[in-house]
Amino acid sequence: MNNEMKDKISNNLKKLKPSGIRRFFDLVQTKKDVISLGVGEPDFITPWSIIDSAYYHMKKGHTHYTSNYGLLEFRLEVANYLKKYNLQYNEKEIIATVGGSEGIDLALRAIINPGDEIIVPEPVYVPYRPMVEFMNGVAVEIDTSKTNFKITPEELEKKITSKTKAIILCYPNNPTGAIMSKEELEAIAKVIKKHQIWVISDEIYSELSYDGEHFSIASFEGMKEQTIYLNGFSKAFAMTGWRIGYLCGPEWLVTQIIKIHQYAILCAPIFSQYGAIEGLRNCNKEVKKMKDSFSRRRRLIYHGFKDIGFDVIEPKGAMYIFPNIEKYGLSDEDFAIKLLEEENVAVVPGSAFGDKFKGYIRCSYATEIELIKEAIDRIERFVKKLELKSI
Ligand SMILES: Cc1ncc(COP(=O)(O)O)c(C=O)c1O
Repeated sequence: MNNEMKDKISNNLKKLKPSGIRRFFDLVQTKKDVISLGVGEPDFITPWSIIDSAYYHMKKGHTHYTSNYGLLEFRLEVANYLKKYNLQYNEKEIIATVGGSEGIDLALRAIINPGDEIIVPEPVYVPYRPMVEFMNGVAVEIDTSKTNFKITPEELEKKITSKTKAIILCYPNNPTGAIMSKEELEAIAKVIKKHQIWVISDEIYSELSYDGEHFSIASFEGMKEQTIYLNGFSKAFAMTGWRIGYLCGPEWLVTQIIKIHQYAILCAPIFSQYGAIEGLRNCNKEVKKMKDSFSRRRRLIYHGFKDIGFDVIEPKGAMYIFPNIEKYGLSDEDFAIKLLEEENVAVVPGSAFGDKFKGYIRCSYATEIELIKEAIDRIERFVKKLELKSI
């Protein structure tokens, strides 16, 4: 490689660090027979009728571009579905995106000017901070580890300045499994309204909420005008490979955002949109079955960690648990690497979700029950050895 060429990429790209999860999983790939509690994707295959519907449409010759916004039928179905969360969006307020991931990218590109501050409560899903920084924004952290991984209005007030443009919310939360109740969200919404900032609300785990109803911050009076709502099919519909999600917002904003989507993406894949329509119309039962299965595994892994003696909060949503490992005297990376080397169990170091979280590991429980049990046994053996060494 010609060294002069190496200089000819964007400075922001040079600064962008690779995801901590990916780096760790390159290491996992080098080992055999590993029980992985690492991946953040359902272990289910997409429900059959979704596959069948997409295939049917392909065979019918529906293999073309759609409107930039997505098929009208898709948007109407999404609008109808979102009523269950008390959200009222019409077809001009919805864009079909390439997964929830494109929604995050679009939302941030749409609102950030250089130097704008975006509040990112951490620990949180990996891409938010790097993407904010890549767009010349400033990520302002709220550490939620002292408040059960929830945001409080007091903490939010402290972080808002004249440069604040938005806060990113992710509930049910990756990596902690925390959810926010209606009352807790209402208190946050009040602060957001008072300061007239955006909320980018990533609700991709909304269906995987195990402790009562999921509430969307966009459903409170006046909040639709200040919310960019993101959701997708990867998690609850087991459609990670289909790359389909959606972004909703007030019509005037969506009319702006569509320009970015138009130039960069054109449209989300047509057969994925057809598959998603089928999912929304006819897969209630399958979604519920997968959710119940995740919830059983959630209880198993939570009690497993608790019984070993970990300091851990019961996850109430998503598909992750975030145990504290400080008492074992190893950093998150050392813990994860040693656990992998000695017991063939892969977990994600907590610092992948924010620099401060070296005292945690993230485990996904989207893995077979028997493997979760075996992983818990191995983790127990591993920490017992650590405890013996420290005596
Ligand atoms: C909080 C959160 N948002 C968005 C995504 C991206 O999902 P998608 O596959 O829809 O792009 C993920 C995936 O792990 C996630 O955890």
